[in-house]
Amino acid sequence: MKVLEVKDYHEMSSIAARIIIGKVQSKPDAKLGLATGGTPIGLYKELIQDYRSNGTSYESVCTYNLDEYVGMDPEDPNSYRYFMEENLFAHINVPESQIHIPDGTAVELEAECERYDLELNRGEGVDIQILGIGSNGHIGFNEPGTSFSSHTHIVKLAETTRKANARFFRRLEDVPTQAITMGIASILKAKQILLLVSGINKAEVMKQLLTTDEVDEQLPASALKNHPNVTILADEEALSLVKNADLKT
Ligand code: F6R
Repeated sequence: MKVLEVKDYHEMSSIAARIIIGKVQSKPDAKLGLATGGTPIGLYKELIQDYRSNGTSYESVCTYNLDEYVGMDPEDPNSYRYFMEENLFAHINVPESQIHIPDGTAVELEAECERYDLELNRGEGVDIQILGIGSNGHIGFNEPGTSFSSHTHIVKLAETTRKANARFFRRLEDVPTQAITMGIASILKAKQILLLVSGINKAEVMKQLLTTDEVDEQLPASALKNHPNVTILADEEALSLVKNADLKT
């Protein structure tokens, strides 16, 4: 894993945007793996800005989101489908038919997981996967203890994750208890992975991730150590508990 320390959220977002834009310009039919949550919002703003000023085209790009809440209608403002529409898709020219997000309202959830994996595995793998990290080390919604050989599956959200995400809802009780998520094995199939990390809330988990060689299912993000092309773009606050001398990547 390559760790790139950046000053702050703004710098993290603009470097990540440059990487994505560079990929889309060199490979117009790139497959992009996308995340939701607070972390990538700045990146998406930069992509929109660039689309408006430079016209980088997403006409042939395909997108694959990591996860969706179970039971959440795509029209619900708390769904990840809605989040992506608001924060990115409505503002660039990616065709609707090339957007992929698990369907949290599917009646047969297991079948939906299989369908999503088939979509993901069609043709070449994802070119760049954007990830955020939970303060418990989750990637996607793969909570501690998830098997590293997991593919798209249903998860029960950890209480810490529900509490962290309650900021997007009216009340904690409104946060769903389950989600569909790409598994660790599905995520690791991406050719390149960009993990974005910002803020003091992530300092403890970055210390756990970066100061030991251990690859452990209790720390889902440690699976990234098994991948040949991972860049961590983390800001000063997120790295504040890690000294350069301690880094084990
Ligand atoms: C989102 C996702 C999650 C988030 C993580 C960090 O699609 O899969 O793993 O990336 O929970 O969330 P934020 O960015 O809100 O701190």
